[in-house]
Amino acid sequence: MEQSQLLALLEGKREQFVSGEEISRLLGVSRTAVWKHIRKLEAEGFGIEAVPRKGYRLTGSPARLNAVELQSKLGTAAFGRHLHIRETVTSTQDVLRELAEAGAPEGTLVIAERQDNGRGRMGRAWVSPPGRGISMSLLLRPGVPLHLAPQLTLLSAVALCRSLSRETGLAIGIKWPNDLLVDGRKISGILLESAAEDERLRYVAVGLGIAVNLEPEDYPEELSTRAVSLKMAAGRSFDRASLIAAVLLEFEQLYAVYQERGFEPIRILWETYSVTLDRTVSLNAGQGFFEGVPRGLDEHGGLRVELPDGGVRTIYSAEIGDAAPLPGAGGR
Ligand code: BTN
Repeated sequence: MEQSQLLALLEGKREQFVSGEEISRLLGVSRTAVWKHIRKLEAEGFGIEAVPRKGYRLTGSPARLNAVELQSKLGTAAFGRHLHIRETVTSTQDVLRELAEAGAPEGTLVIAERQDNGRGRMGRAWVSPPGRGISMSLLLRPGVPLHLAPQLTLLSAVALCRSLSRETGLAIGIKWPNDLLVDGRKISGILLESAAEDERLRYVAVGLGIAVNLEPEDYPEELSTRAVSLKMAAGRSFDRASLIAAVLLEFEQLYAVYQERGFEPIRILWETYSVTLDRTVSLNAGQGFFEGVPRGLDEHGGLRVELPDGGVRTIYSAEIGDAAPLPGAGGR
């Protein structure tokens, strides 16, 4: 019997007792095996109340992310099914890249509580206190030409935006290309790193950082007006395993749409959630700032920006915002 099946059963009946007899019947194992698995779950930090003649009742989950719990919540076919949960890493991106080079399958997921060298876009650092955020990297093997990599960046943002909006009830928008904002403050950052051969993507490591249950004191002064956690924005905390499961399911479904029907459906969704379009912004694409009005995405995933002289410039990588560069949420 998988421990995760037992956990799913107890979670499904949260607040109610399930008798040892019922568990052994539903899962097809002996009462002794049930008891052993209950002991193991307790050793992993789950709270389980055991009352004679009533059975077992789940009273709490461990503060640390736990593979058994996460697997019991996963509704995906492949994403997250090869799961590596680590306490401390340099960066989940580094661990995933090693696994990818060794042949790990698409959907492999690396999660860590603490990153000593977490990184964000534009060479910035990414810092998140252990136990409160989500730092994870997902392996994709899309088999598309290298120049279409920006499409996966945008797809990642849409997957995160849709799943987190649904789970939290917050109005989350996408700032180009893939920052997620609530009321103009960043709650999540995405970093894609890829390996290519002969102009084709061999694999993509999608790094996702989500500020879930961070408190105001977790943010350095300079980020306090620019970054916010889901907990601070919604006024309640969230179960990280449930959020990860929701993100992976949405991601897997959108990725299937992308592979079947191409970028067009993703492009439309991205534009729907974008908070960047149709207003004047200043952009820095490497050669200093310029002003323009982003009007939409082109078919490759580039941002079409209308210039003051009426011309149009398409950009694939740039900083959008004030003249001062924006730091990552939780990043420094
Ligand atoms: C950004 O907004 O600049 C992107 C931040 C991406 C952070 C995540 S956390 C998990 C993964 N591992 C890393 O080192 N970075 C990404």
